[in-house]
Amino acid sequence: MEPRLTDALKTVFVFIIIFASGSSENDRDFAFCGTWRHGNGSLKLNYNLSRGCEGISISANESSLSVEGRITARCVQSDVIQLNHVSGGQSHFCLYWEPLLDQLWVKVGGQDHTLCKPAGLQDSCCTDLSSRPNEPEGAYGISNGSVRSDVVCSKTRTAYAFFGEKINCKKEFCDEAGQGSTQVNMIEEAVMRSQAVGNVELPCALSSVVEMKEDFRGYNVVLPAPRGVPPESMPSVHLPPALKLAAGKPAKVVCTFFQNTSLFQESRGDFRIVDNVVGITVENEIITDLPEPIKIGFHHNVIPKTHSRKCVSWDTRKDPRKVNWLEQGCLTNHKGAQETECLCNHLTYFTILVQLEPRPVRHLLALTVITSVGCLVSVISCIALIIFLYRKKGQGKEKSAPIHLGLAMSLLLLNLFFFSTGTVANTVGEKVCVWVGLSLHYALLSSFTWMAMEVFHTFWLVYMVFSPSPEAYVWPLIGFGLPAVPVTILAAVGDIYGVREVAQSDDINNPYLMCWMKDTPKASLAHYCTTIPLLAILVSGGLVMLFLVRRQIQTREEWRQNWVAFASIWGLSCLYGTTWGLAFLDFGPLSDFVVFLSCILNSFQGFLLMLRFYMLGWMRRRAGTSTLGTSTTGSTKHHMLQPQEEKS
Ligand SMILES: *[C@@H]1O[C@H](CO)[C@@H](O)[C@H](O)[C@H]1NC(C)=O
Ligand SMILES: *[C@@H]1O[C@H](CO)[C@@H](O)[C@H](O)[C@H]1NC(C)=O
Repeated sequence: MEPRLTDALKTVFVFIIIFASGSSENDRDFAFCGTWRHGNGSLKLNYNLSRGCEGISISANESSLSVEGRITARCVQSDVIQLNHVSGGQSHFCLYWEPLLDQLWVKVGGQDHTLCKPAGLQDSCCTDLSSRPNEPEGAYGISNGSVRSDVVCSKTRTAYAFFGEKINCKKEFCDEAGQGSTQVNMIEEAVMRSQAVGNVELPCALSSVVEMKEDFRGYNVVLPAPRGVPPESMPSVHLPPALKLAAGKPAKVVCTFFQNTSLFQESRGDFRIVDNVVGITVENEIITDLPEPIKIGFHHNVIPKTHSRKCVSWDTRKDPRKVNWLEQGCLTNHKGAQETECLCNHLTYFTILVQLEPRPVRHLLALTVITSVGCLVSVISCIALIIFLYRKKGQGKEKSAPIHLGLAMSLLLLNLFFFSTGTVANTVGEKVCVWVGLSLHYALLSSFTWMAMEVFHTFWLVYMVFSPSPEAYVWPLIGFGLPAVPVTILAAVGDIYGVREVAQSDDINNPYLMCWMKDTPKASLAHYCTTIPLLAILVSGGLVMLFLVRRQIQTREEWRQNWVAFASIWGLSCLYGTTWGLAFLDFGPLSDFVVFLSCILNSFQGFLLMLRFYMLGWMRRRAGTSTLGTSTTGSTKHHMLQPQEEKS
């Protein structure tokens, strides 16, 4: 078969299924039809409707068709209508009842007579109409009575009666709409047909109906916030004046805010739907290529920078079978971590949503393994280094030994906490995690401070005539005391540290947990006020220092040996923490490479530091035994791997 034909048949088939299943669910579209056998005289339609939920009866005799019942939620009507257009011995008629809208109408001889107009969406409805025991037969009356095209009785009866049952209509309606996303636009259709203007509330959606009259100059839709939702978190919708021109004649627009996005969760691929979905529909119109876009502002939870977001739309008319989010036609405008604006140039039966593309950490497993191994190696290296430096400090040979020692100790802490953060977050509760997060932040700040002191100390040695020799307690006071200040303040502020999710690309629903600062605006602010500036100062200071030191030592003879030059700059980089600056380069095509490099360098920092000191010792010993080494004078007396270390 032709592929197109099969597609068309499929569509038709799906429509049949939708309509069939939709109508068999309940009596939302109750229809009773039949043939009225009447006389040739003047004919009348009598009706008498009142509120309640007892039932409805349709009776017919020679001259009148009567509808009587207590069935409506609001409508109270009784009248007699002359049916001048109906003649002949029999006429086809139907009675329609739409309890959700409180709408009742009769069609006789091809003409509609509204008995109860739609009056908004009703909470309680009289529905599930079931037929009463048989009424007597007669010459005049109703033959071929059928409920939704199921013939109840082919004989001519004088009356049919049905009882109703009271239900929570909106809830039932939402449940039905929620059964498949192909039925989502049923909500907007119902709102449109209900003739309501203004706000309409449903358990599954909130709608606002706007009438675009001749003088339509654009409109800002204000959706009412449901209970427990702050009004400022509701999406904002701006309808441009161009919408009226596109629609041509006066028309109604329905903006619907869906709170329960489970209706839309069908296809997301790598994406996740942000909390809100907004649907915008114009009555009987397909609107595309608006010269001026409609603007939809979404307020959502913080979307970290690592996630990308885009506005997408779904045209339900194109293919009612599947949810297909499209990017075409919508521009995404980032307005901070908690707000995104969508500019879209089309709307049909239409929904817009903000999608999250959690740009997850790729290769998370590999990175975790590297980090764990690096941390473990660093922990061992730091311990070895501490013992080594402690002995050296005891001998009082090097003035900078206390700083190296402090750095080694802070790095040891950092590695220990970093090593445990994942385990704690994934096993122990939130309370412990707060403390581990806090300690990790403290250790990080402390390490940065010690590295900054290394930079400062080198600067002093190279450019000042004398070496600073403050009281012994000053260095630890700065290195361990100073970082405690911001951490204590943040701990006092509260709600900063805790479990943090790191999304991974393979399995977005199963993020890796770690104890660190939370993923909230407050915690982000704290991060940008403490860690980032300190890191920026450290890295820029370190880079300047590397440049200065290189200038100082590149005149020396040893510099000509490439590996010495490399090792020297390398070692100092480790000392100064410049490698942490890689964190600022995490973007673009090199991103993966940088992430790996940064991960390796920073987790192995303790080990690299130990390597440096070991090499230093080794070179000194070698220099001591060689003739070149002993003849050092003046500025070349100090070894290359250290800029200008005082040796007593
Ligand atoms: C037909 O029914 C109407 C209303 O039920 C009643 O008023 C009228 O008298 C009846 N006509 C005849 C001929 O029975
Ligand atoms: C959303 O709807 C689904 C099914 O319709 C339901 O299972 C779920 O509990 C709802 N969620 C909320 C938050 O109401």
